[in-house]
Amino acid sequence: VNPTTSSPWRVVVTRRVPTKAMDMLRDANLDLDIWDSDNPMPHEALVEKVSSGCDALYCVLTDKIGKDVLDAAGERLKMISTMSVGYNHIDYPECKKRGIPVSHTPNVLTETTADTAVALVLAACRRFKEATASVIEGTWGTWTPMGMCGQDVHDATVGIIGMGRIGSAVARRLHAFNCNIIYWGIERVPQLEEKLDAKFVEIDYLLKEADIVIPLCPLNKETYHMFDMSKFKAMKKSAVFVNPARGELVNQDDLLAALQQGEIFSAGLDVTTPEPLPKDHPLVKTPNCFILPHIGSASMGTRTAMAVLASENLVAAYKGKPLPTPVRE
Ligand code: DGY
Repeated sequence: VNPTTSSPWRVVVTRRVPTKAMDMLRDANLDLDIWDSDNPMPHEALVEKVSSGCDALYCVLTDKIGKDVLDAAGERLKMISTMSVGYNHIDYPECKKRGIPVSHTPNVLTETTADTAVALVLAACRRFKEATASVIEGTWGTWTPMGMCGQDVHDATVGIIGMGRIGSAVARRLHAFNCNIIYWGIERVPQLEEKLDAKFVEIDYLLKEADIVIPLCPLNKETYHMFDMSKFKAMKKSAVFVNPARGELVNQDDLLAALQQGEIFSAGLDVTTPEPLPKDHPLVKTPNCFILPHIGSASMGTRTAMAVLASENLVAAYKGKPLPTPVRE
């Protein structure tokens, strides 16, 4: 596209995002149609908006971009920019088939998400949910030698499944806790093995040996419900399971049963199925399941950086330049 000679792209933005990111799109003279709300755009509204003319879509992880949306947008749709590193909400194979580039926002959220993962590890190992509940509910009794005792994080063996950007950042942090890092995934990371003495192991070994198990792999057909009862049973009874990635990696009924039956010690989740998890869901009421509402990347700086990177990708596509962070598969 030559923006000086052709008419500006009409961009559908599915959510209110930081002003700085929208200003970048305005400065590039793009014609914006913003769903001006902090709540998700209803799916029917999205389909209707894109069918009335959409050259580019700026979306977030709660928008389901499937064949129906792509069909509604038709050939006019030239690119999709998602303000997230995960892109499992987009039918990427279908986009690829239709020649529609997709960009995402890796790197900028790595450190913040790793911070949250470590918070989940600490909270789940050291029973923060039960502990804070006792303070709030007034059941905080006297100090007892074995009261609220959990599992140590320092010196623990940590098993990471999927040693990508975030996995590596979590490993770095937990190495500073003197943890022993083992990992499994589709790729080996020699630098990490060298620097942190991390060991690449088979998944069965990881599940058997790890005190703390953390999946940090993308959600796809291969990883959907990867953590089921067979995996929880393969872990130590004292194991702590932490999921900062995607809820659908886990068979949640099996996780609930594993927690209730004492197959594992506890869980720390930043992601669930569905999101939000209803407040009467049994996992919410399970004392050894610490849950955060998908806030892994939720710092002011990081969310702004994600929104800005999503805009940079979109403007690059408009100007016919290479996308800074395209999805590559
Ligand atoms: C992402 O970007 O995929 C994260 O889940 C947002 O925190």
